[in-house]
Amino acid sequence: MTTPDFWSIPESTLSPTQLAEKTAVLKERLVDITSRFSDVRFATSLAAEDMVITDAIAQSKTNIPLFTLATGRLHQETIDMAKITENHYGVVIAKAYPTEEDVQAFIDQYGMNGFYDGEEAKKACCSARKIKPLNQALLGADAWLTGQRREQSTTRVELNFEEHDDARGIAKFNPLFDWTEADVWAYIRQENVPIHPLHLKGYPSIGCEPCTRQVKKGEDIRAGRWWWLQSDSKECGLHVNQ
Ligand code: ADX
Ligand code: SF4
Repeated sequence: MTTPDFWSIPESTLSPTQLAEKTAVLKERLVDITSRFSDVRFATSLAAEDMVITDAIAQSKTNIPLFTLATGRLHQETIDMAKITENHYGVVIAKAYPTEEDVQAFIDQYGMNGFYDGEEAKKACCSARKIKPLNQALLGADAWLTGQRREQSTTRVELNFEEHDDARGIAKFNPLFDWTEADVWAYIRQENVPIHPLHLKGYPSIGCEPCTRQVKKGEDIRAGRWWWLQSDSKECGLHVNQ
């Protein structure tokens, strides 16, 4: 049996000068956000993009607080990565948990892994384990940050640096909106940023454990997310403006 050839970390296509420029712009973006908003929070999944932003927050001394959506279905490696990040940067990552009632209501109606049955059940699980905790995590904030990039998906091509989160009535920023995957990895290499170990095992994108798998070489980088659903539903709703 041959081992499938999985996605692997891309080589950099940037010159050192180009990378330095991109890094400077990223830090300026963070400083700009904190100068305009008083309660900015950063949602980290502990995957590569979010580690770049975490590092840039530390380097820019903007002290933007971090939180993660602790869905209860994350890989052990993700939980470990939160600790590693906290120790490395001397920060605390707030954990936003789903309520027991919401999780139980989902399980009662659909079963623990009911999301495999289709779109509606997947939406209900993401709502209980991600969206409602996100709403809680952002209560009182006037802006939040994500690690989304335009290149990641057809649903993100129109992403801007600054957006308005209509659902929560606050500002939303995507400081890496114009970065490529190779840019992200060039920064990580240059700054020795700690990385999620699953990136070394064929995972370009990391979400909950039962809904994330490895991606073959040449496949879309989000092909391993909710692979049993149609491509236009490969979002968990965190970034849907409604
Ligand atoms: S998702 O919508 O498909 O799950 P993706 O994994 O691409 O999102 O991540 C995009 C951005 O959403 C991340 O850069 C991060 O800002 C936020 N995000 C995703 N998952 C989490 C999580 N578990 N905790 C906090 N933020 C998250
Ligand atoms: Fe549930 Fe999967 Fe969504 Fe996680 S990604 S909240 S396990 S459906």
